[in-house]
Amino acid sequence: MTFPSWFMFGAATAAYQIEGAWDVSDKSESIWDRLLHTQPSLVLDNSNGDEACYSYDFWPRDVEIAHELGLQMYRFSISWPRLLPTGFPNKISMNGKNYYSKLIDGLLKKGIQPVVTMYHWDLPQSLQDLGGWTNPLIATWFADYARVLYTLFGDRVKYWITINEPLTICDGGYSKMAAPYLNDMKISNYLCSKHVLLAHAKAFRAYEEFRKGYRDFYVKNQSNCHRLRFAAPAVLAGAAAVLQPPRARFQWPIFSSGSNLWIRKKIKKLRNSQCNSGLVSRLRDIAPTAHAAHKEEPLCSSKLVELFYLHEGRFGHPIYSKTGGWPPELERYIAGLSAREGYNQSRLPPFTPEEIQLVKGSYDFYGLNHFTTRLVKKATPKTAGDWPFYGSKELGVSFVNHPKRKTIVIDWFQIYPEGLRKQLHWIKDNYEVKDIMITENGLPMLRLDFADYERVDYIREYLKHVLLAINDGVHVMGYIVWSMMDSFEWITGYKVKYGLYEVNFESDYRLRDARESAKYYRKPPLDHNPQT
Ligand code: NOJ
Repeated sequence: MTFPSWFMFGAATAAYQIEGAWDVSDKSESIWDRLLHTQPSLVLDNSNGDEACYSYDFWPRDVEIAHELGLQMYRFSISWPRLLPTGFPNKISMNGKNYYSKLIDGLLKKGIQPVVTMYHWDLPQSLQDLGGWTNPLIATWFADYARVLYTLFGDRVKYWITINEPLTICDGGYSKMAAPYLNDMKISNYLCSKHVLLAHAKAFRAYEEFRKGYRDFYVKNQSNCHRLRFAAPAVLAGAAAVLQPPRARFQWPIFSSGSNLWIRKKIKKLRNSQCNSGLVSRLRDIAPTAHAAHKEEPLCSSKLVELFYLHEGRFGHPIYSKTGGWPPELERYIAGLSAREGYNQSRLPPFTPEEIQLVKGSYDFYGLNHFTTRLVKKATPKTAGDWPFYGSKELGVSFVNHPKRKTIVIDWFQIYPEGLRKQLHWIKDNYEVKDIMITENGLPMLRLDFADYERVDYIREYLKHVLLAINDGVHVMGYIVWSMMDSFEWITGYKVKYGLYEVNFESDYRLRDARESAKYYRKPPLDHNPQT
C-alpha cells in the first residue's frame, strides 16, 4: 500500500499571511489591513501582516523551498487589492501582475504546479466600503476579477481555487472574529453566504468561457469588460491555451471540524430519529469514555442535523449535491427561527431557480481544509458557541475534546486522523463529487525549535488515513500541508507556528530554515503500510 503515482504532494500559504509589502507600489488597502491598523489588539501579539515573511521580495526563496521539499504543487493566493488596486479591472497593477507572474514562472521552471487561490480573505477595502460580501453586485465584481486572472495567468495555471473557507468569511466576518469584523449573524452572514456562492459559480462559469478560447471570450466580454484590452498583450502567450486549453481545477475549501465528523457519521440515522434520543449511546462508539462526562446532557439529534447544515452543508449542498440549492434542513431551520423572532420571511435569502442551476455543479473537485475533529454536545447558552463553530449558541451546542486524544496548543485542536478518513468517505457518499483534494491540513505549535516531531507524527498519521481512504476507493488527488512556512496567523499572530520551515521574524531577511517535518515531507512518504 503506497500512494499512487498520480497522487500529488503540496504545501500552502496565503497572500496576507506571507507577502508583507502591504502598501508597496500601487497596492491598495485590504479589509485585513484596515482592521489590524485600527484595532491591533485583536491579535494575540498585536501583530499584523504588514511585513510578514517579506515574500513580496523573497519569493525566489519560497520557490526554492517548494523545490527543496520536492513539492508537486505550491498553493498560494493572489491579493485582490495588489492586482486590482481599485477592486475593479479598470486598473491592473503592473507590479502586482509581474510579481505573481514571476512566481508562477519560477514554480513552473522547477516543475511545480501553481495552485492559485483567488480569494484568501483580503478583500479590497474599497469594495468593503460598497458593502463587501453583503452587496449582491460582488458576484459580478469577483467574476470580473477572475477574468483578469484567467487572462493574465490562465495560460500557465491549471489549478484554481476560488474562495477559501466561505464559512470563515461569512460567519467569522460577521461575528467579530475576522475582517470586516462586523456583528450580524442574522442577516449579513446569510447574505454573504449566498453572494459567496454566486461569486464562486460566476467565476467558475467564466472559466468555462475562457476554456472555449481567448478570442471568443474577449469578443463576448469586451462590451462590459473593456479594460481587458489592457491585459490583452499578456494573454497572447496564452494563445497556446486557446488551442489546447489547460484543464483548470476548481475547489471549494470548507472548514471542517469534529462536529462535522460526528454529524456526518450519524446523519443518515439521525434524519428520522427523535429529539429525545440521547447523546450517550451515540457517543459510545466514537468516544468510549466521553459520554460519562456528558451523559446528563443528551443532545437532540435534530440539532446535530441543523448544525451540520449550518456549517458544511450551507456551502457544500448548493454546489455538490444532486439537487443544488440550500439544504432543505437549513431552510426549515432558519425559517423556523425567523418566524419565532417575528420576521415576515426567512432570514436565509432564497435562490432563484436559475441561480440554483448556476451554482450546482460549478466545480472540478472538492477542496477540503481539514485540521481536527471534535465531539459535539448540548450546552447552556453560557457555555455554547466555542470558536470556530459559529451558530453554536443559536443551536445550544458546544464541543468537547476526546478524552483520550492529544490536545495541542489551542484548546480545541485535537489530533484525530481517523476523522479525515471518515470525512473523505462522507463526501464521496453524499455528493456527486469524483475528485477530492486536501487543500489544507497541518499542526499549530508554539515551540520555536526545529525538532517538531509532533508535526512529523501528525502528518504521518493524517497521510496514513488519506491512504486508507484511497484504498477504500475514495479518489483523493493530492494533499497540501498548511503551511509551507511560519506566517502571520489570523488571531494568534506570529506566536502560533504552522510551518514546515521556520521563519526568523527577527531577521531582516526573514531567514527560512527547514524543521524536522520538512525533512520528513521532503521524501514523499510513500512507504507507509497502514493496517486497515
Ligand atoms: C485555514 C486558513 O485557510 C488559513 O489561512 C489559516 O492560517 C489556517 N486555517 C490555520 O488557522
